[in-house]
Amino acid sequence: MLDEILNKNKLTDRDLNFLLSLQNEQDIQQLFKHAYQVKKKERGQVVYYRGLVELSNICSKDCYYCGIRKSNKKVKRYSIDREEVIASCKWAYEQGYGSVVLQAGENSSPAFVDFIAGLLEEITSLSSGRLGITISLGEQSKEVYRLWKEAGAHRYLLRIETSNLDLYRNLHPKDHSFSDRIRCLKYLRELNYKVGTGIMIGLPGQSIDDLVDDILFFERIKIDMVGMGPYIPHADTPLPEKINPENSGKTVQNSFLLALKMIACVRIYFKNINIAATTALQAIEEDGREQGLLAGANIIMPNITSTDYRQGYQLYNDKPGIDENSNQYNQGLSARIAAIGEKIGYNQRGDFQGTGGKQVMPSK
Ligand code: 5AD
Repeated sequence: MLDEILNKNKLTDRDLNFLLSLQNEQDIQQLFKHAYQVKKKERGQVVYYRGLVELSNICSKDCYYCGIRKSNKKVKRYSIDREEVIASCKWAYEQGYGSVVLQAGENSSPAFVDFIAGLLEEITSLSSGRLGITISLGEQSKEVYRLWKEAGAHRYLLRIETSNLDLYRNLHPKDHSFSDRIRCLKYLRELNYKVGTGIMIGLPGQSIDDLVDDILFFERIKIDMVGMGPYIPHADTPLPEKINPENSGKTVQNSFLLALKMIACVRIYFKNINIAATTALQAIEEDGREQGLLAGANIIMPNITSTDYRQGYQLYNDKPGIDENSNQYNQGLSARIAAIGEKIGYNQRGDFQGTGGKQVMPSK
């Protein structure tokens, strides 16, 4: 049965449900191996780095699961200034990283919008347009998305978190609208961004069928990149209080395994898109991201934020790398990637071309 499904050209919703429900250790390993072979065939044994700058934890949203939600008064809010963000991006460029990602809490103030536009122009010019720039700055108006695109951003990450409307409502206050988020994803497409979305896995109330629907949702909105990770409770948020882990039957270990299965299924289903092995995997198991790569992911987002600020960007408890600086992180990570037989795609943006092609940076 498993062999038959894995050899199909196109998986059905029932097949996806079957794969995500696998319990036997040998079957699960076979799923991961198959997904890795698909990744290897479509994208080579190459991992792309996107250096992540978490430039501010000021957030206007109040998502029930997130450690930097507006109502969490325990968090000291910060914004990194221009020079420091640019220095981090320059460092990444000098290391040969193909791209950077600018991420922050959601902020639509005109001052913030201009600040970002200025950064995008400066990063574009410091690398003569070679460094790929991804932004992950939440829901904005189409005009703001356009401004940022014109200033130099070419990819956008905006997770849907879950494609189940009822579940979305349970995870967010009333004024956080699911349809607004869908509209934003549509704007980003229309503006020709490479669009990434994703979900959290193991959310209270989330079923296997929800995850299957999430994959079909990715297909409907024609996604270029996917970033998914296990949900990890944060003690200073309302969600852990609402759930009794003993009743929900959900442990982070279960969510971790399910997240790996989702990576594998998304790889098999979409074949050549970009899939991130996210930091949340590493929060549960030290080599979680390498396990993500071996289950079919091909992108890693090393944190290049100055160590001084990392304490302030804890979306979930036990976020790894809080005390580490970018150099230490870089060396450790690169050695671990080499150990699993993968190469790092230095100086390559690694864009998904729709045909599985690889975009190499123009030569200097
Ligand atoms: N556990 C795992 N992921 C989380 N995120 C936010 N809070 C948590 C949590 N408690 C993820 C969301 C968001 C991304 C930036 O971080 O999916 O989109």
